Formats: sequence, C-alpha cells, structure tokens
Amino acid sequence: MDWKIKSLEEYALAYQESRSNPELYWGKVADTFKWNKKWESVLSGSIEDANIKWFDGAELNITENCLDRHLEERGDKVALIYEPNDPNEPALEYTYKQLHTAVCKTANMLKAQGVEKGDRVCLYMSMVPELMISVLACARIGAIHSVVFGGFSAHALAGRIEDCDCKILITNDAGHRGEKIIHLKDIADKALDDLDNSPVQKVIVHKRVGNDIEMKEGRDLWWHDLYKEASSDYPSETMQAEDPLFILYTSGSTGKPKGVLHTTAGYMVWAAYTFGNVFQMNEEDRYWCTADIGWITGHTYLTYGPLLNGVTTTMFEGIPTFPNPGRFWEVVDKHKITHFYTAPTAVRALMACDPSFVTNNNLDSLKVLGSVGEPINAEAWHWYNKSIGKEKCPIVDTWWQTETGGILISSLAGVTEGKPCFATLPLPGVFPALMDAEGKVIEERESEGNLCITRPWPGMLRSIWGDHERFKQTYLSAYPGSYFTGDGCKRDADGLYRITGRVDDVLNVSGHRIGTAEVENAIGQHPDVIESAIVGFPHDIKGQGIYAYVIASENHSPEEMREEILKVITEEIGPIAKPDKIQIVPGLPKTRSGKIMRRILRKIAAKEFDNFGDTSTLLDPSIVDKIKDGAL
Ligand code: PRX
Repeated sequence: MDWKIKSLEEYALAYQESRSNPELYWGKVADTFKWNKKWESVLSGSIEDANIKWFDGAELNITENCLDRHLEERGDKVALIYEPNDPNEPALEYTYKQLHTAVCKTANMLKAQGVEKGDRVCLYMSMVPELMISVLACARIGAIHSVVFGGFSAHALAGRIEDCDCKILITNDAGHRGEKIIHLKDIADKALDDLDNSPVQKVIVHKRVGNDIEMKEGRDLWWHDLYKEASSDYPSETMQAEDPLFILYTSGSTGKPKGVLHTTAGYMVWAAYTFGNVFQMNEEDRYWCTADIGWITGHTYLTYGPLLNGVTTTMFEGIPTFPNPGRFWEVVDKHKITHFYTAPTAVRALMACDPSFVTNNNLDSLKVLGSVGEPINAEAWHWYNKSIGKEKCPIVDTWWQTETGGILISSLAGVTEGKPCFATLPLPGVFPALMDAEGKVIEERESEGNLCITRPWPGMLRSIWGDHERFKQTYLSAYPGSYFTGDGCKRDADGLYRITGRVDDVLNVSGHRIGTAEVENAIGQHPDVIESAIVGFPHDIKGQGIYAYVIASENHSPEEMREEILKVITEEIGPIAKPDKIQIVPGLPKTRSGKIMRRILRKIAAKEFDNFGDTSTLLDPSIVDKIKDGAL
C-alpha cells in the first residue's frame, strides 16, 4: 500500500477507513516498513486501562528503517545537511551511507562503554551532527535516549539524569549559539557534582568549540578518541514493538517535569506517516526544520520523520538573528530548501526586522511552509504567506504535543485546504472531541471546548517514565475513555479546528512549554522569597510572556530582588524560564481557602484593569488595588 494521500478524496477515504477498521488500515500502513517479525495484533489495550499497545509481538529496529532500508536505492543521496552557526564555516553533508556508517561507529563506541539495550543515555549537546548521530546510535543499540535541551541549567539536567537513571552522558565541550558560547561540559560537571549518587558512569565529550575543560580521570572520555577506534559494522539490535525508544521531559501543571515515554513501532509508523502526508515531499526536495533536537519537534520532524521517508533533512546550529536577521532566508537560498518548518515566534521576530533581510534573498526554492509549537496569529500567518511563501506555498499549521509523538491536526500540503490560523483537520486515525464544562462531548459543529482525543493513535505516549499513575492521572482521567490534551479549541462551521492555547497552568513561551508551578518552585528556592505566583501575558514576539508576582522579605531593594530572582531561575531551570516582568507585591489575591485567584493576576498582567469579576471571596479584597497600582 502506498499510504501517501494525494487528494481530498483520498484523505476522506483514508479517514473513513481509519475509523471503520483501524486495525486493517494501520496494518496496511505498517506493512510498508522493515520488520524482523510481523505483529500479532495491530492494536490492543484501551485508554481506560492505560495499556495501549500497537503492533504487539512485532520485532524491528527503527534505524534499519531510517538508514539501512535506503542504502540500496539512495545510499549516495544527502541525508543530512549541516549548517553551522558561523556562516563562514563550511556546511557539511552526510549521505545516507555516511550517516549509516557514523551511526554504526557511534553505536559500537557506546557499546564498548557498556551501553546495553534498555539502558538510558542522556544527551546534553548543542546542535552538532553528533547529536543526531547519537540519537540514532542509541536506537540502534536499543538504549533509551533522553535528550536534554542545551539551554537547561545544571540543576534541571541533574533532575532529569536522576529521574531516568542514565548510565552515560554525552555532551560537548561547549556549543555555539549566535555570539554566545554555552559551556555545556562545565554545566554537566556541575550537574553530576550536585547529585549525591550520580548514576552516570561515563561522560563522552564531543569537541566542538575547543575551550578548556576539565576531564575527570576514569569518568570522562573524548568522543574522537573512542570514535576512531570503533568499527563501522553494527548489526542493529532487535527490539520489541513496545520497547521504549526515548524519554523526553516536558513541563506540566505540577512542579516536576514529566518524562514522556515513547515506544518503538507505533512512534515509528506515526513519525513516518505524518511527515510523509503533511509535508508531501518529492525525492529531490530539501527539508529544513529549525527546531533543536532537544525538543520533540527535533526528534520527530528533524530526525526520525524525514529519515524514515528517505528525504534530505537540514540541521542548523545557530539562531535566526545571527549574524543578522536574514540568516534563515540566506540558508534557504544557500541550500535550496523546498520545505521549511518553524515556530510562529521566529516568524514574529523576523517579521519585525527590516524587510530587506528578506528581500535580499530570492526564496524561490520554497514550496511548502510549516508552523508549529503555538497558535499562529493572523498577522504572522499573512506575513509568512506573503513575504516568505510569495503566496504560492501552502502553509501547514501543525498542532501536536510532546505526548502525541507527531502531528494530530494539520492540513496536508497542497492536498487539503489550509485556513489562516486554523490547524484545520485531524489526520487519519485521529478522532478529536470538544468537551464542555461538565465533561460531555459537544455535538454541535461550531463550538468551543477542551480538546480530547477519543481513540488511541500509534504515536501516543505510553507512560510517564517511572510513574504510570501520573500518566493516567494527567491525561486519561479528566475525561474517562479519552486522552485530554490540556488545550482549548474552537471548531468552525466547516468542522475545522483552531487551537486556542493551554487551559491548564502551562505557559507557551516562544513555543516552549513552561509550567507555572515549576517557575514558582524555582523562585521559592530564594531564601528571601515568601511566596510567588506566575501567570502568562500576551507578548508580541513570544506569544506569551512570563509575569511573576513575588512577595519578598525586606532584605533587598525591589531591583536587587529582581536580579536575585532571575539568577535563581537561571540556576534552577535555565534562561528560557526567566520572567519578562517581576512585580514585588505586598500580598497575593487569595480566597479564604488559600487559593490564589489567578484570573485577577492574569488580567493585571495583561493590563486589563477593569472587570475583575467577583472578588468578594477574597480574604483581603484591597490587595487587588495595591497590585494594580504597582503593575508593570
Ligand atoms: O498548546 C499547544 C501548543 O504547544 C503545546 C505542546 O507543546 P510541546 O509539547 O512543547 O510541543 C510543541 C511541538 C509540537 C500544545 O499543547 N501547540 C503546538 N502546536 C500548535 C500549538 N498550538 C496551536 N497551534 C499549533 N500548531
């Protein structure tokens, strides 16, 4: 079966088939992959019992499907283009054969350091090709990769290493990010020093920058020393369909980040199927996803999805504004990118710059544009469409989450209609429902509610690492029988979906998920903080900004206190969680039962100073005016 959907009719047919006979449909799709052994059942278990299994009984290795499968037909085709931070440094290209060799060598290198199937390996790296290679090498061995974004702090890294009990840590000496150097190895050293019982036996250090670092005798090893010794022959490990493939931490509405667990076969089928159908690439096209591999987009749509489809994928080390805000568009021209996938926050930031940064480039290679990570506002959508896509490139607004493994709602480029600011229609296999305040399915077509998915799909997370109960509680208990996304959503008269944003205490700042409780916990680590409350507010570039209300003891001036708070958040989480505004307040609006009335704080943060609603249940209603008077 060729599962590529080529017309609206084929979409309707596939959607219908995936509804009436999901096992038949997904069995046919899965048949197109390379398996060591076929499945006994396509789908088993239920959302109620939190025991979903896809392709149970099957055996495979995902890297055979990403790499080996292509060697005969397209071994000399470029698999990976690597564009370094500095535009004067030459770009690199890896063919499928070369990437295969690099992955096999790295797998041997890890194996020689004692990595076995099922072990966890933490990757704390900048955007170097060796990060993608390490991800695939883990998968080849059957080790579970846990990538930690290079912008997280030592404390955040330590927490993740401890939670998933990693045996090996791979890092860089340091990483380039625009003009900055991020001292990854120093941060990793601190993380390991901070752990009472570090599970990490070996640290493998890839040299990128060449800065001075400390190599700890008996623990730290240079990548290049190990790599040159390693054989390029590594027959892949045979994995069970439901063996874990990776853990990726993400923020939730409670304090501690959750280790989202994805397994092998279902994730593979979903990554490949959604990539192929949403982006609609041809053999000679060139794709670029600007995400960092430290996030789910970098897993599914920079690494696995494109490679599973045998296309050319591009990895970028730098940032959109270095050495100038024309960098993205220069790279598009340089590598003749046809399919470009980025986040609305980047679009908004670049839209605000001098138009010549765009018009200096011709961008005529582009065929398809994508958006991911947050709702795209109308202004950004139209600019992206006009200035970048020259009104000839379909825009796919792809809605999904770390937990969903891949895209659930999106148009299919050039196949189904897009609509500005709408993710549009669910992919085959995805059955959304909007829920009302009573937890009932809203039947009317034109409506608004909490977005749930009523049936399992292959790419769905299977658990939270080490905490299956939390998995059930977080996703499967609010609406029994359905997966709850945490997002609010509108449906128009044509049945198209528009995601409006989180309905829980999770912020989306520049497309990154940040838990308000996580930031509050971090602020609370400062000895002079009595209490704090974090809310989001509309931000022109970031989508949402972070607003912190803090009650502090009087040991510091408000200016000093703000500095201290930024420092403690950078240490506890990382710079991405730094509030845009910190207001020192005499108190917080609490009800008699001690609950903070966040809606008031949100309104003040958004500079909406009227209509606070009923404040009579507040313990001290006068606090509202005091906070309002000091609003930033
Ligand atoms: O609120 C939704 C928003 O991002 C959240 C998921 O964040 P994360 O797990 O970090 O994954 C980001 C990359 C998939 C969602 O709950 N979101 C993601 N894509 C969109 C979106 N909101 C609106 N439109 C989108 N296309």
